[in-house]
Amino acid sequence: MNTTIETDLEAKGFIDIPVDPTLDLVDEIKRLKKEKNAVILAHYYQESEIQDIADYIGDSLGLSQQAAKTDADVIVFAGVHFMAETAKILSPSKKVLLPDLKAGCSLSDSCPPHLFAKFKEKYPDHLVITYVNCTAELKALSDIVCTSSNAVQIVESLPLDQKIIFGPDRNLGAYVQKKTGRDLVLWNGACMVHEIFSQERIEQLRLEYPEAKFIAHPECEDHILAQADYIGSTSGMLKYTIENEANSFIVATESGILHQMQKSSPTKTFIPAPPNNLCACNDCPHMKLNTLEKLYNCLLFEQPEINLPADIIQRAQKPIERMLDISAKLGL
Ligand code: 13P
Ligand code: SF4
Repeated sequence: MNTTIETDLEAKGFIDIPVDPTLDLVDEIKRLKKEKNAVILAHYYQESEIQDIADYIGDSLGLSQQAAKTDADVIVFAGVHFMAETAKILSPSKKVLLPDLKAGCSLSDSCPPHLFAKFKEKYPDHLVITYVNCTAELKALSDIVCTSSNAVQIVESLPLDQKIIFGPDRNLGAYVQKKTGRDLVLWNGACMVHEIFSQERIEQLRLEYPEAKFIAHPECEDHILAQADYIGSTSGMLKYTIENEANSFIVATESGILHQMQKSSPTKTFIPAPPNNLCACNDCPHMKLNTLEKLYNCLLFEQPEINLPADIIQRAQKPIERMLDISAKLGL
C-alpha cells in the first residue's frame, strides 16, 4: 500500500474510501469472504442488500449463537457496535470487524457503565441482568445477559426470592415484570427507535386495516404494547407473520425487518407502524450507517477491527455464556 493511500485510510477511518463504481460489489464481497475465510453476520435491521449477502441473518440471540460457534477466521458484523463486541467476547481469538465504528446504539448510550456501577452499589443483594444492547463494560458488571428472545425465560429461571436489577431498557424491563409478575429494579434507559411510535396514528391505521394484526417489539412503550396482538423479538415477529393466517400486519419495530417478512410471505402486506413525527421510515440511524461499500472496504482492509481489553473480555464472557447455556437448555 502506498503512503498516500495509507494516510488517506487513517484519516477516513478506512470506511469512506471511494469504491470503484465499476466493481460488482456483491461478487467482490463474496470473493473476499472466501479468500479470507470470513463470515458475514447481519441483524434484521440492516439494509436489504446487506441482508441478501449475509451468511446468517438473525436477531441478537441468533447472532450471538452464530458468533460463538463459527469456525471462520474473520467475523464481519453487519450490525451495531455492541453486537460486534459481543461477537469478540465470545470468539476472542477471531478478527471481528464492524463496517462503520460509529454504528452505536441509543439504548446502550443511555446506560454509562460508571453510573450503572454506582446504581448497582445501592442494591448489593440484587443479581444484575442486562439486556445485550449495552457496552462490553456494562456486561462485565452483570451476572446474566439476556436478549429480547429470552429475557422472560431468563428471569423465570431464577428463584422467586432472588432480587433483580434489570437494565438498560426500561420498556423491556417493564414488559418482563408484567409477564413474570416479578418486581425488578429498572435502569431508566430506552431505544430512540422504539419510543417513537404514535398510539393515535396506530389506532387510525387499525381502523383503515381492520383485518391486520398489530405486532410489536418489547422495546416499545407499554401503551403501544397494550394494543399488540403479538409481542416478540425480531425473529419472533418474523415467525409470527409466517405462521399466522392474517394477510396484513402493522409492524412496530425498525423497518429493516420488513425485508425478511416480505421475502418470506410475498403475498402478505406489511405496514410500518407510524411514528409520532412526519418521518415514515422507523429507521435506526445507527444500523443504517452500514452500507455495501463500507462492507466491501471492511473486508478488503480488515478494518475497523473490534478490540477489547482482556479483563473486560474475561468478565463479560461469563454472563453471556450463562445466557447461552440457559437458552440452550430451554431450546431457544
Ligand atoms: P432483537 O434482535 O433481540 O429482536 O432486538 C432488536 C434490537 O433492538 C437490536 O438492536
Ligand atoms: Fe439501538 Fe434501538 Fe438502534 Fe437497536 S434499534 S441498535 S436498540 S438504537
